Amino acid sequence: MSVREEFDAWAAAGRDRGMERRHWHTAKEILSRMPLENGDTVLDLGCGSGYAARALREAGGAGRAYGVDGSPAMVENASSYTNDDRIGYLVGDFEHLPFAADSVDHCFSMEAFYYARSPEATLQELDRVIRSGGTFYCGVNYYEENVHSHSWGSDMELELTRWDAERYRRAFREAGFHVAEQDNIPDRKTEIPPEEEFPTENWERREEMVERYREYGTLLTVGVVP
Ligand SMILES: C[S@@+](CC[C@H](N)C(=O)[O-])C[C@H]1O[C@@H](n2cnc3c(N)ncnc32)[C@H](O)[C@@H]1O
Repeated sequence: MSVREEFDAWAAAGRDRGMERRHWHTAKEILSRMPLENGDTVLDLGCGSGYAARALREAGGAGRAYGVDGSPAMVENASSYTNDDRIGYLVGDFEHLPFAADSVDHCFSMEAFYYARSPEATLQELDRVIRSGGTFYCGVNYYEENVHSHSWGSDMELELTRWDAERYRRAFREAGFHVAEQDNIPDRKTEIPPEEEFPTENWERREEMVERYREYGTLLTVGVVP
C-alpha cells in the first residue's frame, strides 16, 4: 500500500478524527510555542483532519492557514470541518509544495514528516517556501530513541524514516535551517491504566507505557530560516 492509499482508507473510515484526538495532547503544546504574529500565513505539512490550521486561525492569530496532504480523502474531510474562507486544504506532496518561494511565515507538522519519500528534499522544499526568519516546528512520535515506536513501519508495511534527535538537527542544518530548539513534549493526557490491568492489549508492562507517553512523548525539532 502507498502512503496515499493508507491514509485515504483511514479518512474514508473516519479515523482522521481519532488520530487528531491522539495527537492533540502534544500538538497543542507545539502550536502554543509557535511565534505567530497577527496576519501570518501558516502551513500544516501532512495535515490529516486539518485541526492545526483551524486552531492557528481560531487561537493563534493566523491571517491565512493552509494544510497540505497527499491523501485527497483527508483533504476532503478536513475541508468539511470548517467554513473559514481563510483556511485552504490542498492535495500536494511534501517535495513539491504548491507555494511560491518565501510565501509562508511558519510551518507546523505533526506525525507526518517521517512518511516523506525524501526527508532531505522535504526540508529543502520547506527552506524554499518559508521566508527568512520563519520557522518549521516538526513533531514526531516515531524516532530512534522512542523504542516503543520501532515496529510502526513494519506494522503498516510502509517505509518510514527513523532518525534520532541528533540526525534531525543535522538534517535541518544541512538543508539551511538554524536549529532553534529541540525538546521532548510529554503526553500527560493519554490514560495509563493502574498496574493490575497489565498486560493490556498493546502493552506488556505499565513502565513501558509510562516511558512511551510521559517520558518520550513527541520529539520536537524547530528550524529557523536564516
Ligand atoms: C499520521 S498522519 C498525521 C496527520 C495530522 N498531522 C495529525 O497530527 O493527526 C500523516 C499524514 O501525512 C500525510 N503524508 C504523508 N506523507 C506525505 C507526503 N509525502 N506528501 C503529502 N502528505 C503526506 C498522510 O496522508 C497523512 O494524512
